[in-house]
Amino acid sequence: MKIVAIDGPAGSGKGTITKIVAEKLNLIYIDSGATYRCVALAALRNNLKVEDKEEIIKLTKTLKIEFTKDGRTILNNEDVSKEIRSKEVSEIVSPISSIVEVREILVDLQRKMANDHDVIMEGRDITTVVFPNANYKFYLDASIEERARRRFKQNEEMNIHIPMEELIESIEKRDYNDMHKPVGSLMRTNDQIYIDSTNMTIDEVVNEIIKNIK
Ligand code: DC
Repeated sequence: MKIVAIDGPAGSGKGTITKIVAEKLNLIYIDSGATYRCVALAALRNNLKVEDKEEIIKLTKTLKIEFTKDGRTILNNEDVSKEIRSKEVSEIVSPISSIVEVREILVDLQRKMANDHDVIMEGRDITTVVFPNANYKFYLDASIEERARRRFKQNEEMNIHIPMEELIESIEKRDYNDMHKPVGSLMRTNDQIYIDSTNMTIDEVVNEIIKNIK
């Protein structure tokens, strides 16, 4: 089976880019971040706090997480695609993804998802932990300012007004968390193909990735 792995920081455009490449190359798209978001949503629904580590680990073991071909996320037979993007989930998902035992369970699940298909999977530790032997590995980056600009634009389109300084601060905090986890932290390695998308269009990034796969 063919595996394409893409890592990168929040707001680097991984989701958008990976979806397009998946369609063009007929690969199954897997958003590993959505699995962590499912655990965060389940924890919230069970009134658990981030500190309730043991309870969260127990809960994670009971969850059934699936992705449909058209990209929806199904948690215990319920479509939670929208809910896992809520502010409440986004606030607690990073500390939850730092729990080592939660990562072990989800990494196992992510590997199984690639069992009998050609896949393209994006996240933070796909090139290093989940599939260190992937056929193709990419690190997709963009400057903090550019990532904040992209988020600002998305927000404005949804009529959400958050000042740039605040966005930059929150992206810096997320980067720090993502890069300083005991296990599965985001890192650059020599065997990744590094793409800095700061001054590139979506099409240019997609073409760059496809060129390297072909
Ligand atoms: O990509 P995202 O923002 O939806 O990811 C949600 C959270 O999950 C984010 O805080 C980082 C974490 N994550 C992770 O630790 N490992 C992954 N492979 C993917 C996401």
